[in-house]
Amino acid sequence: MSDVLIEAARRRTFAIISHPDAGKTTLTEKFLLYGGAIQQAGDVRQKRESRATASDWLAIEQQRGISVSSAVMRFDHGPHVMNLLDTPGHHDFSEDTYRVLSGVDSAVMVIDAARGVEPQTEKLHAVCRRRGTPVITFVNKMDRSAPEPLAILDDLEAKLGLDPRPVTWPVLDAGRFLGIVDRRDATFHRLEDTGHGRGTGSTSVEPWATAQLSLPVPAVAAARDELALLDELGRSVDVEGFLAGTTTPVFFGSALANFGVRLLLDAVVGMAPAPSARPTVDGGQRPLDAPFAGFVFKVQANLDPRHRDRLAFVRVCSGRFERGTILNCTRTGRRIVAKYAHQVFGRERETVEEAFPGDVIGLVNATDLRIGDTIHDGPAVAFPPPPTFTPERFATATLSDRSKVKQFRRGLEQLDQEGVVQVLRHPDLGDQEPLLAAVGQLQFEVASFRMEHEFGAPMRLTPAAWAAARGTDEASVATLRSLRDTAVYHRADGVPLALFRSEWVARRAASDHPELTLEQVLFA
Ligand code: G4P
Repeated sequence: MSDVLIEAARRRTFAIISHPDAGKTTLTEKFLLYGGAIQQAGDVRQKRESRATASDWLAIEQQRGISVSSAVMRFDHGPHVMNLLDTPGHHDFSEDTYRVLSGVDSAVMVIDAARGVEPQTEKLHAVCRRRGTPVITFVNKMDRSAPEPLAILDDLEAKLGLDPRPVTWPVLDAGRFLGIVDRRDATFHRLEDTGHGRGTGSTSVEPWATAQLSLPVPAVAAARDELALLDELGRSVDVEGFLAGTTTPVFFGSALANFGVRLLLDAVVGMAPAPSARPTVDGGQRPLDAPFAGFVFKVQANLDPRHRDRLAFVRVCSGRFERGTILNCTRTGRRIVAKYAHQVFGRERETVEEAFPGDVIGLVNATDLRIGDTIHDGPAVAFPPPPTFTPERFATATLSDRSKVKQFRRGLEQLDQEGVVQVLRHPDLGDQEPLLAAVGQLQFEVASFRMEHEFGAPMRLTPAAWAAARGTDEASVATLRSLRDTAVYHRADGVPLALFRSEWVARRAASDHPELTLEQVLFA
């Protein structure tokens, strides 16, 4: 086997998706602890709280103590190289969150046991489903009183249409979490009191058959009944369905108590796919051992105010990346000298000498690169760009200082290209007051901040009366323009967007005019 294939097989590139507060930060921290990437539990959170988090380059992040830019975390797990791509959550939910998912091979979905599947989880899971990304489920916070575990499975099935296949099963004594049974080898993992969140979670493991003798009778009886029911229902672990994105292996545990986390991490290695051949726009597949190729899934300017530079994050899809190689961008046909490629772990940057499929590299000051671009060595190749999402928030941008028109235009063009916000234009309204559109409110804040501090063109944002959007086509434009409470704007890439005063108006347009093209997710 070639070096590239061996290296690719060692890699697992994944993201953690969850609703705010489900425990993503806590779980990430435990993963990093296992990998030796951080020394102490509490590092990730403390950094977040002391506003010196891994990704606090932008002043706005420091002001709010949140992470605007998603970082890539890399750590080892045994012989494996784990690339964990961070998906910004919370109010910092934005298009970036979605885009990151185009760079991963699998996802860990964290569910708060008591809350079940929440709205943001649903949205993120919908993206995984569209892409066929395999999802492993972690039911977190089992140390707190949670509903019946079977009800949690029902919730997964009802809200996500995913067939849950428990790998571990919780043993509960009147709501108190005693441990988990690993269904694969019938062992019982006993929850020891590790003093919340400290240590690497030493757990005692014993055969389930003997553990039953020392556990409270009602807890054992309930667990046995439930395990028998799962067998009866045919809910066995199903790797094929998982890889196809139709079933999800389910693990129970507590990120805070570091319980069940190791089994989960082992599953990312043992069950989740390594990088594989990637589909190309011409309908082919790019083999892993073809010459180097990758695509840009995120562009970030100003990571470090001291450098004021711009990083294009590239997911490597094939071949070996070597520093200094001359690459080409498929869209522009231009050369890129990858002299400064970095691996980024929060604030820390390390120069990358080489990288393999599944890795993420940050190309410094490759100013030509945009989200969705393919870069390659050898003959041209193009990967499909990540999907774009119809915006949900809209604001009119007005320049505060009339003498800064040039900076205003240049700044908005740059932010649009980077995907910070979408800049929409209406043929009748010209360029004076473009409409900015975003998935999350924070995108506007980042745009305003950067317009003022980076481009020297402060702008005022006035919320616009639009509330929903759909991607459409030129054939639908005339009809859409004739509808009430509806308008058609164009994105910079020429895609027409239908805007509606409310979600209800959007739905009515679709049902009254089935001939119209109205898409919520835009796959190029
Ligand atoms: P997020 O990144 O998904 O938003 O969630 P995060 O890890 O920040 O966790 C949200 C809250 O849930 C935190 O509490 C965290 O300690 C708690 N938590 C995470 N995992 C578990 C778990 O397994 N069991 C229990 N009982 N709680 C858990 P907080 O009060 O908001 O923060 P903190 O004061 O603990 O730092």
